[in-house]
Amino acid sequence: MRGWRRGPGSLEEITRVTTILGIETSCDETAAAVVADGRHVRSNVVASQVEFHKKYGGVVPEIASRKHIEVLNSVIGEAMATAQCRHDDIDALAVTYAPGLVGSLLIGVTAAKTLSWLWGKPLLAVDHLHAHTTSPAIGLDAPPWPAVALVVSGGHTTLFYVRDFLDFQRLGATTDDAAGEAFDKVATILGLSYPGGPSIEARARDGDPHAVEFPRTMLGRQSLDFSFSGIKTAVLYHVNGPGKTSGGLEKMSPQRIADAAASFQQAVVDVLVAKTMRAVSRVRVDTVVLGGGVAANALLRQALREECQRRNLTLHTADLAYCGDNAAMIAAHGYHLLQAGRIAALTLAARATTEMK
Ligand code: KG4
Ligand code: ZN
Repeated sequence: MRGWRRGPGSLEEITRVTTILGIETSCDETAAAVVADGRHVRSNVVASQVEFHKKYGGVVPEIASRKHIEVLNSVIGEAMATAQCRHDDIDALAVTYAPGLVGSLLIGVTAAKTLSWLWGKPLLAVDHLHAHTTSPAIGLDAPPWPAVALVVSGGHTTLFYVRDFLDFQRLGATTDDAAGEAFDKVATILGLSYPGGPSIEARARDGDPHAVEFPRTMLGRQSLDFSFSGIKTAVLYHVNGPGKTSGGLEKMSPQRIADAAASFQQAVVDVLVAKTMRAVSRVRVDTVVLGGGVAANALLRQALREECQRRNLTLHTADLAYCGDNAAMIAAHGYHLLQAGRIAALTLAARATTEMK
């Protein structure tokens, strides 16, 4: 039709949806997802390897890489099929390139680079921590920024001042163990199964959160950093006796184990909520977002919700499907890199550590 231009600038181009295939293999979940316009999740497939690592009490890197190789192609296939996508519907490939286990990251990075080359589509290099930080925005009608973000996972416990999807300032972080790591280690001390977060949460339901006064390490009145190694040691001595590291668990009743789990969980949540509120006062925002694997914890979600309500703050918690490792958050974050023209080269390498300042 005369007057209607096709190509860039036409109505068709302006109203076009941008569809991104995300790939995530940084640790022990093999994941792929298709996300439209950075917020509409059309598929989100996660193949967990937890059963293979359980008997070792933690992730075994060699097993993780091997399992990623075994299942990644079918996970990608399922994500594409569920989203009813063919490869020419995909506008870009987003992949986690850091931080994580390098052997695991390599599998996803290699797959994404291959598809990018094969399909002739841009490659987007996503930092896993950035994706956890912006994951609470998935599905929202409007971006929640500026906000304070609490990101709590197995590898990180960090507070960010987020001005925009690609504009972060780190306000504080853990100086030793991450919150999820503390859950995992304390679960081992209490004889509970891996991963520790869900098992502690389940056991804590039968316990009294005030039975044991575990320390709330605040690191001074101004600090926005965290420390969870002290509470881990306090649980160890509570179980085994002062200065002792073994032999006590067998003598503990199921009720005392539940009480210790509940008291530990309460102490960690108290610190996370208190520091988040400190951060809010520091940067003076009225929105808080919560993401990362530990964000699945019901007590943390509830405590943060209550505190935000009390202070008239808006809270966006990541949907449970996007708390643990997943590729929807990678594709969603990748969309903003694409918008900003931050395309990665096919020489992209996996990195064990985050580049986030
Ligand atoms: O984000 P994630 O899946 O992986 C990393 O990027 O680290 O987080 C995994 C961590 C594990 O330490 C796990 O124990 C913890 O999140 N986690 C929980 C819960 N679900 C998972 N911690 C507390 N409560 C939960 N319900
Ligand atoms: Zn994660």
